[in-house]
Amino acid sequence: MALLEVRELSVVYRTPFGIVNALNDVTFNIDRGESLAVVGESGSGKSTLALAVSRLLPPNARYVSGSIMFDGINILRLSSSEIRRIRGGTGIFMVFQEPATSLNPVFKVKDQLMEAVRIRYEREGNTFDESKAITEIMSVLRDVRIPDPELIIERYPHQLSGGQIQRIMIAMGLLMRPKLYIADEPTSALDVTVQAQILKLLRDLKREYGISILFITHDIAVASIIGDSIMVLYAGQLMELGPTKSVIYEPRHPYTQALLSSIPKISKAEASCQQ
Ligand SMILES: Nc1ncnc2c1ncn2[C@@H]1O[C@H](COP(=O)(O)OP(=O)(O)O)[C@@H](O)[C@H]1O
Ligand SMILES: [Mg+2]
Repeated sequence: MALLEVRELSVVYRTPFGIVNALNDVTFNIDRGESLAVVGESGSGKSTLALAVSRLLPPNARYVSGSIMFDGINILRLSSSEIRRIRGGTGIFMVFQEPATSLNPVFKVKDQLMEAVRIRYEREGNTFDESKAITEIMSVLRDVRIPDPELIIERYPHQLSGGQIQRIMIAMGLLMRPKLYIADEPTSALDVTVQAQILKLLRDLKREYGISILFITHDIAVASIIGDSIMVLYAGQLMELGPTKSVIYEPRHPYTQALLSSIPKISKAEASCQQ
């Protein structure tokens, strides 16, 4: 059984101007320890997909049809407190495209990262050890290229830049080691070296802990680095889905071919970073 099984998922938004069909009949699986990169231009439904899987759609959205099974549970049937337990524990973790909404404004960064580690220790049946947790937090913050982490953790979210919050959220996911790590364009605003480092960290996380990843990007080159498989979305429709190498080298759909031709050539070396 796959960790995530999405079947014929359709989602609409109600707007003052009418109904927007944001996702139409989208079907895919993510196996345990597998990464899926979702690629598509702005407005293609990528964020809607991430929010739908996490049950975080805004109030004007509606699931029209389909099912989402996560770890054997039909998450569309869960109550809001049950789904919160899955997100707050270590089931599904999501890094949002808009980092401003992700951290709790009333707690210091340190407290929020400590809580993430504490939840994981609990799940693993280990007693929480504060000094060990701090060492781990510092090391992960250095991994995501946060300068002066010992100063940063004493701050509140409003004292940080968007890029810093984004990296802290990525770090929080690394510390929590959820079953499913969802990241919605987490690196788009970061500089290229930091972006490359973060893609590497996510790949390590997947390899070391068998974590599944749903990674969203508008950049097919990034998708080819992080994804075992690639899904191409266009106007809420699934255009193409397959192993990364075949999507990159033998794209079936003209839209995928257009995405590929709009970027500098992906080198064989980059694609062979796939393991
Ligand atoms: N909260 C919302 N209310 C109404 N329409 C929305 C909302 N969020 C997204 N949409 C619409 O749904 C479609 C898909 O959007 P989105 O999932 O954000 O795409 P992407 O993440 O690929 O840019 C777009 O047409 C967008 O305008
Ligand atoms: Mg988006």
